[in-house]
Amino acid sequence: MISTEDADTLKQLSVEDGLKFISEKFSDGVVFSTSLGQEDQVITDIIFSQKLPIKVFTLDTGRLFYEHYDLLSKNNSRYKTKTEVYFPEASDVEKYVNEKGINAFYHSVENRKECCFIRKVKPLNRALEGAKVWITGLRSEQSENRENMPIIEWDEDRKLYKYNPLISWSYQDVLDYLDQHKVQELSLHKKGFISVGCQPCTRAIEEGENPRAGRWWWESSHKECGLHTH
Ligand code: ADX
Ligand code: SF4
Repeated sequence: MISTEDADTLKQLSVEDGLKFISEKFSDGVVFSTSLGQEDQVITDIIFSQKLPIKVFTLDTGRLFYEHYDLLSKNNSRYKTKTEVYFPEASDVEKYVNEKGINAFYHSVENRKECCFIRKVKPLNRALEGAKVWITGLRSEQSENRENMPIIEWDEDRKLYKYNPLISWSYQDVLDYLDQHKVQELSLHKKGFISVGCQPCTRAIEEGENPRAGRWWWESSHKECGLHTH
């Protein structure tokens, strides 16, 4: 159980110490989902270089960029360990694609959310089965929906704690960590992609644009895929 004191402690600790604290408190059942974005590369670097007993996994939607696979492979070589990969159910994808179309997510928000549900949310729920703590790379600055997220909270739907160690970090903090520790990152970041999701649903942003403006850019919805909303 996480008490109010534990939550206060986590706010004071460095991310390294916070991750250690959580992995000691919940000796099994701590998992981290990485999208291979910059925030997640920071957490991955800490977990693997400190050899923390935390399962690291990614969701391969089947529509990622080539660069995601390249980085995944580089991570596995550098840290001499493996990020587990979860895929969507083949029958879900086949049904969706054959009934609606290969790029049906562009046609309506409903279609887009269904695609995200099949390709991301369902596999996420499978990856989280049995977990006690789910670590993410969310930061408050990223969006309105994330502004008031606490560092750790009970997720009643999934019946686990959701721990966001970088919640109060700025984008510059993330860049500084990556630079200081020479952590590799998606080559897309140098080409104007900041927040990166699936290839057909992400574009580069212009200077001054919100970092998430390149996600589902054709929609005026809240730009969330359902991983972090209920
Ligand atoms: S999203 O909801 O818009 O897609 P975002 O890309 O900002 O999420 O990433 C926020 C956090 O969600 C990441 O730090 C990571 O923990 C998780 N996440 C997002 N996409 C994936 C993915 N494909 N695989 C695993 N985790 C993911
Ligand atoms: Fe489908 Fe796009 Fe969602 Fe990826 S981001 S799961 S391609 S709708």
